[in-house]
Amino acid sequence: MDYRELCLLWAARETGIIETVMFDAGTVEEIAQETGVTERAARITLEAMVEMGFLKRLGTEYEATNRALGLFAKTDVRSIGSVPHQMDCLARWFELPETMRTGSPPETSENWTQNFMGAMATVNETTVRSCVTEAIHEYPDANRVLDIGGGPGVFAKEFTRRGFEVTLIDQPDVIDIDSRFLEREPIELVSGDVTDSLPVGFDLAFCSRVVHALGPDENRNLLENAFGALEPGGVAVFINQLRGRAEGAAVMGAHMLAQTEHGDTYAANQFEDWFADAGFVNFDIRDIPGTNQQAIVGHRPRN
Ligand SMILES: C[S@@+](CC[C@H](N)C(=O)[O-])C[C@H]1O[C@@H](n2cnc3c(N)ncnc32)[C@H](O)[C@@H]1O
Repeated sequence: MDYRELCLLWAARETGIIETVMFDAGTVEEIAQETGVTERAARITLEAMVEMGFLKRLGTEYEATNRALGLFAKTDVRSIGSVPHQMDCLARWFELPETMRTGSPPETSENWTQNFMGAMATVNETTVRSCVTEAIHEYPDANRVLDIGGGPGVFAKEFTRRGFEVTLIDQPDVIDIDSRFLEREPIELVSGDVTDSLPVGFDLAFCSRVVHALGPDENRNLLENAFGALEPGGVAVFINQLRGRAEGAAVMGAHMLAQTEHGDTYAANQFEDWFADAGFVNFDIRDIPGTNQQAIVGHRPRN
């Protein structure tokens, strides 16, 4: 999305224009009156939202289209899409100068977790299939898979579809949403901090797009926990953008600076240290076909 479109939607959300037009279709004058913005601001914003496909004009009134539902849907993560999370991230980017001084991003906004999950759920199917294929390739006879920081469970569902027994662990607020969203899926859900501990007894420890949200010490703990979660002979497959190898990985590091307390993107040698210190052997890195991500792989020795 063009940065101007995103900024406009963000301002429309902040001023209440989106909420007002979603729940009560209205004229320029009514929306300006209701939200306290000028009529010029209301007219220009509503017209731009028509052009972007979020609204339609019926006579002098504006009404939401199906595309706009995601801007407001909160019950089903599949209908949220990526735009609300982009707006949440934008708000944090605006605070980056302050974050650079303090070292901590501002508090998360009200619907942060749902919006984040909505965005995570938009990962494209080819990426999901390629990443899962890559992981299975490392251990074709695996039976039990632990999806570490599995979010809305898109990867976990692909593993179950291929016949694996899957446990997904994530933070409590994410698991709370998953317990409704994934209630019909044969996925065991566990709530916890993956840098503290992980459940045990798995053949495959799969971890996609989590490392960049964490700092080096947290990742060292995560790798130790992943090692402990595996049976002897088990395999850890971490999916991430490697600094110096994935396009845009350094800018992704800057995104993590704006959005997280300790996150960054990491180079191959950093992963190699964490894997080795945790006890993994046969460390390897592979580009995942059709994606801009790498699989970082380590094996727990058989004895
Ligand atoms: C970018 S999402 C990736 C979700 C999923 N693995 C995927 O690739 O679509 C990162 C996930 O890691 C989870 N996460 C980050 N830090 C965590 C922690 N310390 N403990 C548990 N989960 C964590 C977040 O809640 C989020 O669901």
